[in-house]
Amino acid sequence: MIVLGIESSAHTFGVGLVRDESPHIIADVRKKYVPSRGGIHPKEASQFFISEGPKAIKEALEGSGVSPMEVDAYAVTLGPGLGPCLRVGATLARGLAAYFEKPLVPVNHAVAHIEIGRYLSGFKDPLVVYLSGGNTMIVAYEEGRYRVFGETLDIALGNFLDTLAREMGLAPPYIVNGKHAIEVCADKGVKFLKELPYVVKGQDVSYSGLLTASLKAVKRGARKEDVCMTAREIAFSAIVEVAERGLAHTGKKELLLVGGVAASQTLRDKFRVMAAERGVEFYAVPPKYAVDNGVMIAFTGLLAFKHGIVVPPEKAYIRQRWRLDEVDIPWVSH
Ligand code: FE2
Repeated sequence: MIVLGIESSAHTFGVGLVRDESPHIIADVRKKYVPSRGGIHPKEASQFFISEGPKAIKEALEGSGVSPMEVDAYAVTLGPGLGPCLRVGATLARGLAAYFEKPLVPVNHAVAHIEIGRYLSGFKDPLVVYLSGGNTMIVAYEEGRYRVFGETLDIALGNFLDTLAREMGLAPPYIVNGKHAIEVCADKGVKFLKELPYVVKGQDVSYSGLLTASLKAVKRGARKEDVCMTAREIAFSAIVEVAERGLAHTGKKELLLVGGVAASQTLRDKFRVMAAERGVEFYAVPPKYAVDNGVMIAFTGLLAFKHGIVVPPEKAYIRQRWRLDEVDIPWVSH
């Protein structure tokens, strides 16, 4: 069985082809939209997808020698994400499914980050820490769905790092040689700034106060490197703390770090230490699959399709705020 997955929820148009026998991943094509300045512009990104998306689909099929008729199902991210971007992937997937008379499988982007992590780690039932530009969540499977056991009360960790870097004049580019601009700067920090706030409320974290206080510290003349070091230490420690609480609460024995921010070595090290102290197995998705890609959509599509989850093309609406705890997960069982 072969499934083609399309991802287009933010800056990456990804096409993945996977099958249920080894080797599982047979195509992985990505076209990344890079804004010339500032953050992501949804309209510009969607225009980039309109021109690059069809090429990516063609490359994935031709590169793997699979004809569109050999694809058993077409899977697509329907949310959450940026409307104009999601719409491009959804339109192309609907067209493919309708034209080739194949099933269309709806995929939730957050669930896909978890499923690629479960596949790569071999974990059955982990506590998942999902960290990306737009998401900061502690998630675990309970009674048929992934449930949220903690999240950010305001901005996401990735958004926090990006905004801080941009406002401090350190970005774009946000990532230099695989490292975030804040981390590059933080590595040269020496002094911990006590005035920056550490905010954890119950199972949740909050980063907007830390962002404001960090920028204020820069304004009043604090060394940028010290601000970056302190902000990183606080931001990362807070998420590790709520993850540890999630482990205690759920009793899970595996800890899985997924999403683009999972690429940070500093953050991985912090999680690794915490997991070891609790006797919990730990796995962080490698950077290549931690960022958005089509393979994770194809994988999740394969799982969903095998459990009969399909949607008629005319009803495959995008959902910009589709929460992962609204998605039935029939493929995880105890
Ligand atoms: Fe993502």
